[in-house]
Amino acid sequence: MTDFKRYLVTAALPYANGPIHIGHLAGCYLPADIYVRYQRARLRDIKFICGSDEHGVPIQIRAMREGTTPQAVVNKYHKLMGDTFRDMGISFDIYSRTSNPVHHQTASDFFKKMYDEGKFEEKESEQYYDEKANAFLADRYIVGTCPICGNENAYGDQCERCGSTLSPEQLINPRSTLSDAVPVKRKTKHWYLPLQNYEPWLKEWLLEGHKEWKNNVYGQCKSWIDNGLQPRAMTRDSNWGVKVPLPDTEGKVLYVWFDAPIGYISATKELTEQWADYWQQNDTKLVHFIGKDNIVFHCIIFPAMLKAHGDFVLPENVPANEFLNLEGEKVSTSRNWAVWVDEYMRDFPDQQDVLRYVLCANAPETKDNDFTWKDFLERNNSELVSIFGNFVNRAFVLMHKLCGGKVPPLHADVADKADQDLLAEFEATKTRVETLLEQYKFREALFEVIDLSRKGNKYMQDKEPWIVAKSLAENPEKQKLIDNCLHICLQLTANLAVMINPFLPFTAKKMLHMMKVVDKMLEWENAGKTKLLSVGYSLREPQLLFRKIEASEIEAQIEKLKANMVKPAATVDPAAKKAAKDAKYAAKAADKEATTEATATSTEETASPVKPEIVYDDFAKIDLKVGTIVAAEKVAKADKLLKLEVDLGFEKRTIVSGIALHFQPEAIVGQQVVVVTNLAPRKMRGIESNGMILMAEDKAGKLHFVNPNTKVDEGSGVS
Ligand code: MF3
Ligand code: ZN
Repeated sequence: MTDFKRYLVTAALPYANGPIHIGHLAGCYLPADIYVRYQRARLRDIKFICGSDEHGVPIQIRAMREGTTPQAVVNKYHKLMGDTFRDMGISFDIYSRTSNPVHHQTASDFFKKMYDEGKFEEKESEQYYDEKANAFLADRYIVGTCPICGNENAYGDQCERCGSTLSPEQLINPRSTLSDAVPVKRKTKHWYLPLQNYEPWLKEWLLEGHKEWKNNVYGQCKSWIDNGLQPRAMTRDSNWGVKVPLPDTEGKVLYVWFDAPIGYISATKELTEQWADYWQQNDTKLVHFIGKDNIVFHCIIFPAMLKAHGDFVLPENVPANEFLNLEGEKVSTSRNWAVWVDEYMRDFPDQQDVLRYVLCANAPETKDNDFTWKDFLERNNSELVSIFGNFVNRAFVLMHKLCGGKVPPLHADVADKADQDLLAEFEATKTRVETLLEQYKFREALFEVIDLSRKGNKYMQDKEPWIVAKSLAENPEKQKLIDNCLHICLQLTANLAVMINPFLPFTAKKMLHMMKVVDKMLEWENAGKTKLLSVGYSLREPQLLFRKIEASEIEAQIEKLKANMVKPAATVDPAAKKAAKDAKYAAKAADKEATTEATATSTEETASPVKPEIVYDDFAKIDLKVGTIVAAEKVAKADKLLKLEVDLGFEKRTIVSGIALHFQPEAIVGQQVVVVTNLAPRKMRGIESNGMILMAEDKAGKLHFVNPNTKVDEGSGVS
């Protein structure tokens, strides 16, 4: 079907466990936004859907690390991420979140219908369980000795020293990170989607039916299908997520990769009463924009769920991108090797389009690509400033100087081939841009637009209206040549505004202002037209579209990157890595349960950050004193928090501390601690906390008290 009546475009729901970095933008959100802005300019009926993915292990791990609750984590990042997208001009019609009640309802109903129709297999299996913490343990929550390199703090899914992919069964001396207990196997029941049953259908629908998908996407899907599909559990033992809507399933939630993509449906429901048209009419074109680590979920698992459910349309395309590296190295959130978009906007205010430009020009569309600050500077200075910006600026300046500030007429009698050729380029460029955008080739499409401005520059350079102007006194007829040149350059400027708009919307807006025209001019059908600005219409003074970026600015960025980079505590040891390879333990990553969750969180683990240098006075502001815990109790409805009474000698303090998963209250009474006594009070769960106790966190995430090595008087200073 090629005749789609409406478009539904989704961008992967990012985990609400950290800020947005440029890799996110380049991989998924920017191409999606360009596509949507283009389709909107074509006046298509289109909805652009996104939101925060607030469930799953990545969120829980983050909460454990921050000593807070999953809810607090998602609240914090949902807001930050939504603001960042908005400020960057990512024009979602809705930015929702999977903790919304409508989502819980939608995901439950989806599961229930599949369950009622017998689409799941119910299976018992043995999973690791922590008897002290009373919880089943996701692989990430188990640590032990790596069977390959001997690292004593390997995780249940991966050893960070040798890089091996592991399963908890392989760990020697496994222990729980929740309580240090030795995990035991316990039977548990889960509901599996028998993906193998969908194999014939996937072959037909995807491998036969969607050969036009991008090579990187099609190839990954084919290799999954060719390797044979396995049943996959769609539920988990956890308290964080959408509750399994069946009786006697306390402590079970839907697998995050089951509920999250349903979030696209929930968000559409929240957005419009017509949501069902978008999701249930066959003439909807559904397109999922994602990064490459999400391919299998959007091309195989979610479509199988949609097919099994039966009421929904299937994706028409999944134009996933590869990864964007930074200065030649993989982006790593744990090492803080990333350019955070909210920080970029603080450092480069009003320069959103420069980042959009560089990320699109360098988009990892067919292979991994690299972002460097040097390239950022060069593209800005030699493409945006010197080509596009320069052309528009010259056209305006000359029009004011040589044509009285008005759009001059086009005199057919003196129009020459160069004039005709450039005018013909408007339409030709439009057609090429359109074709490329429909094929998700955003980089090439952008280059076409820049190229059109380059042609404008060349034309103006050849025509030299400023030289012609010098002979006007002897030959007033020559004004016609000047008029023609500037008439064409201004019409070209109007075209550039229309065509650059999907990519650089802030710039297009500025151009509209200069031309004194309304937003409507940006409608795509205006691209290619040679009479967008009326003759005699007076235009404003030019406004600089782009500014030069100085070498010192990017040097500061590179320094900042290096200064803030965190050296991993356990660097991958090359010998161990080789041993691991030889041992062929690395089970095909793709076959592992929850691989993506694991990678999404594994980058968060080893951090032993050395913060930027401070002077003694900075340190001296902090008041540290020894105290003794004299009472401890759990905080109601907060499984991570303990309320402590700490005796500081001169007074007793109430301190709320996020250590409840690590210590039993009765076991820590009498314990000496170091307290930050002059920290501003903070309310947690309605209790005012007056200070903070220092804890050491080992690599496994286990906490230990920091205290003097013999008992000292309460109130003793620490410095
Ligand atoms: N949260 C996932 C990630 O960041 C993406 C989820 S996309 C959805 O990798 F479809 F599941 F929503
Ligand atoms: Zn190892």
